[in-house]
This record gives sequence, structure tokens and C-alpha cells, in this order.
Amino acid sequence: MTETSNTSSTAISRSDGPVAVTGASGYIGSWIVHDLMGQGYNVRACVRDARNPDKVDHLLAMNDNTDLPGHVELFVGDLFKPGSYDETFNGCCAVIHAGASVGYNKETPQQVYDGCFTEVRHVITSVIRSGTVKRFVFTSSFAAVGHPRPAGYVFTEKDWCGDNIEGYRGAWTEENIPKNRDIAYAMAKANAERMIYKMAEQDGRFQAMAILPLHVIGPLMCANHDQGWSWQNCIRFMLQGKGYKKSKGGRMLWNNVDVRDVAKAHRLCAESGKARNGSRYILSASDPSGELFTWELQNKLQTLFPEIQEIGGEHMDNGKPAEETYDSPRAYCSLARQELGLTTYSIDETIKATGDSYIRLGFL
Ligand SMILES: NC(=O)c1ccc[n+]([C@@H]2O[C@H](COP(=O)([O-])OP(=O)(O)OC[C@H]3O[C@@H](n4cnc5c(N)ncnc54)[C@H](OP(=O)(O)O)[C@@H]3O)[C@@H](O)[C@H]2O)c1
Repeated sequence: MTETSNTSSTAISRSDGPVAVTGASGYIGSWIVHDLMGQGYNVRACVRDARNPDKVDHLLAMNDNTDLPGHVELFVGDLFKPGSYDETFNGCCAVIHAGASVGYNKETPQQVYDGCFTEVRHVITSVIRSGTVKRFVFTSSFAAVGHPRPAGYVFTEKDWCGDNIEGYRGAWTEENIPKNRDIAYAMAKANAERMIYKMAEQDGRFQAMAILPLHVIGPLMCANHDQGWSWQNCIRFMLQGKGYKKSKGGRMLWNNVDVRDVAKAHRLCAESGKARNGSRYILSASDPSGELFTWELQNKLQTLFPEIQEIGGEHMDNGKPAEETYDSPRAYCSLARQELGLTTYSIDETIKATGDSYIRLGFL
């Protein structure tokens, strides 16, 4: 066993070999494939069904895009099957794990927790078996960071969802995992992070790190990226003049990040000489201009899409929000910008590209 965990020697470049991406057909995974190919990488795109055109055609089309010097090949695997990725990862220099069954199909909270945690354990076991992987980048979530704090508190990568400073009802604890889906999801991401850092440290041949996205929006590549639970789907509903239904009165603080920036951060993390085992990067707004209450998002959508007559959103009273929104979560992707050199889209570019992709795909 070679001890590399405390050095930066595992940083990869495209000459080191292919990079595998799980969840490659998904919203974030597809942009990770696109970004890697833009940098000339050969990508092993891990999908569940290589014969489903709705999920893979947009990936295969990237091979015909002359702006993308890299190449993509499809590999079939299932996150619930142990050893499913052993052959696929063999020969890869890095694995980006963006796949997940996120648990909106009537699973119990315990099933959400066990599912997420088990999937990550299967994937990292295949990473260890490969013997060639030097970097493992896990798509965790801001859920692994956020927890009850006073309004306006700015979260950083030092925060963990189990911190429970205020200790109020629904606290983010191990005992509460079976009681609440959001707690189960958050605790699964946080505990999976801890597991991968520990396993990488013990193995010594690779380093593990995590990207923690907040409200991901931005262009959709195909109709399948319009999943009912997703933030982009909420934007579609607002553009269709419908009220925002996921929170009471439609009130929420949207802390937006562009899916293309989230994707790029994964690659930069694998290539970074500064990132090391245990590094985690919040991917959220880069400054307060990307943090919008629902009514502010509505106004922005109206400005960017003046041809649309009615934009839906939160309950308003004489042009003002009917009730005040709790001011959380505040967080900025400053560490990713500083350490990884990430540059980001402006909020207007992101929102416009989201709506334009819905128009292109024929949803609006
Ligand atoms: N979107 C956000 O706002 C956000 C925010 C924070 C964190 N995240 C995290 O980012 C990751 C990707 O999210 P996303 O928005 O891109 O979701 P998505 O579009 O639903 O993509 C999920 C991917 O996982 C794959 N998958 C699901 N179950 C699988 C299984 N049993 N075996 C193999 N593959 C499986 C799906 O494949 P199929 O195409 O075959 O279904 C799909 O490619 C998730 O870990 C999520 O928790 C997302």
C-alpha cells in the first residue's frame, strides 16, 4: 500500500486515462460528461439501460459534436448490484459518482438512507478493486451541510448537517433517520462522505472528495432531465404560470447554481493539486445576486421572458409577498472559486438558459 492520502500527487490529467461517470444519463451527470469531453477526456458513461434512446441519445450525440475533442462510450451498471462497476472502473484514472436513486418513489425514509449509503459503498468498493483510480469525486449535497441556524447564517464547508446547534424538532440525528425523508437523505450524504474519506485514507492509493450542490438549475439536454422533483421542473411550472407548490405559500430562498458550473467543479476537483482527501466544496450562488426569494425569481423570469404573460410563484398581496420568507440557506461557492479556480455563470445567464432549453424541448 502506498501512502498518498496527504499529498496532492493523485491529481489527474487527460493523459492518465479514461474517467468513469456514474449517473451519466442524469441532469448533472450529462453535463459532467460534456465538460470532460470538452477537455479531451475519454469518458466511460455508466448508465442503467444503454438501449433507452430517451436516456442515452444525447450522450452519444456528443461524439458528433466537433467542439468536444473527447469521446464517450456507454457502460451498463446498477448501483444496487455489488461489483457492477468492477470492469468499467478498471483502467480509469478517476471516477465521478453522480448517480443516485434519490428516493421520490414512495420509499420509506430508512430506504432512502439505506439506498444512498449502499450505492456509495458499492461504487467505492469497485474503485478500490480497480487499482487504477487516483481520484474519487462524489456528488454529495448541500443537504449534508445545512441544519437549523438563525436567519441569514452563512453556511460553509465546515458545517455538517448533524451539527444540530439549535436542536429543534426534526433534528438531523441518527435516531430521526426513519422519521423524515429529508433527514434520511441528508444523513445518508453526510455519512457516505465520512465513509469515502475514511476508506480512501485506509486504502492510500486514491483520494476522495465531494461536491455539495444547492439548488441546481440551468439548461436541460433532454426531456428526461425534467424530473418532477427537480428545481428545474419548478422553474418550468413558474414559466407556465403555475404557483410554486413545494413550500408553504410558495415561499423559499432559492440559492441557485448553474448545472454547468456544478459539472465543471467535479472535473476541477479531480484535477486539482490543492484538493485532497476529505476536501468538500459547496456549489451554490457565487454571490448574493444568485440568492433569490421566490417572488424575486418570478420578477427575474418576467424580465428575461417578457413574451410570457403570466409567471407563477409565491402568494402575493398587492404586488408584495403575502408573508415573509425565512432567510435561509445562505452559502457561496467561494472555496470552489478560490481552490479549484472555478468561474461561474451569472444568475441571468443561468435562468435564461434554463427557460430557453424548456422552449427548445417543446415544454413551453
Ligand atoms: N439536482 C439537484 O439540485 C441536486 C442538488 C444536490 C445534490 N444532488 C445530487 O446530484 C446527484 C445527481 O442528481 P441529478 O439532479 O442529476 O439527478 P437525476 O437527473 O435523476 O440523475 C440521477 C442518475 O442516477 C441514475 N440512477 C438512479 N438509480 C440508479 C441505479 N440503481 N443504478 C444506476 N444508476 C442509477 C439515473 O439513471 P437512469 O437514467 O437510468 O434513471 C440518472 O442517470 C444525486 O446524487 C443528487 O443527490 C442534486
